[in-house]
Amino acid sequence: MYKIAVLVSGSGSDLQSIIDAIDCGDLNCSIEAVISDKEGVYALERAQAKNIKTYAFNRKEYKDTISEEILKLLEGKVDLIVLAGFLSILKGELLKKFKHRIINIHPSLIPAFCGAGMYGLKVHEKAIEYGVKFSGCTVHFVDEGTDTGAIILQKVVPVLEKDTAKDLQARVLKEEHKALPEAVKLLAEGKIKIEDRKVTIVK
Ligand code: GRF
Repeated sequence: MYKIAVLVSGSGSDLQSIIDAIDCGDLNCSIEAVISDKEGVYALERAQAKNIKTYAFNRKEYKDTISEEILKLLEGKVDLIVLAGFLSILKGELLKKFKHRIINIHPSLIPAFCGAGMYGLKVHEKAIEYGVKFSGCTVHFVDEGTDTGAIILQKVVPVLEKDTAKDLQARVLKEEHKALPEAVKLLAEGKIKIEDRKVTIVK
């Protein structure tokens, strides 16, 4: 069985999309752990409700050592680490040992509206302010940069004239909930090939 860990910082709706895909038989994998960089977030409750092991490493306390703690916990235990709304930046040995085995979902069409400080509602505010006609979400591998790793898949939504950032966020989030389980499924089934930064889906 393909094993994953999901890293979270907030409400966990992206985590829920993976749980739901497993429950309805679309996705064949097991969530071995849900790790948060903040205590008390709703994502942890969602995991506990499914009897998934949960861990919280408060980022204010662990600071730069959070990646080491995660590596200690997950090395040799999981095939893939999924960042689902996880706000801490991973670094060091964890990235090396899990090269091409950590993915993230970002709520824009990378390389637009991404990078340091671009998270939450700010991403959508910037997209509207810029006047783009389309936005969306991106699932990508995690490397040493922020939102710079190779792109696995993207989903596109229109930006409507009267959209507020919240409207756009809600529209993009719906697509995130399709994109994330889809990407995990492709990886679990060994259908992803990566050369340099070009990802192809093997049929
Ligand atoms: C999404 O916008 C995702 O792209 C971003 O965090 C949000 C998900 O939050 N990285 P959650 O899964 O509801 O906690």
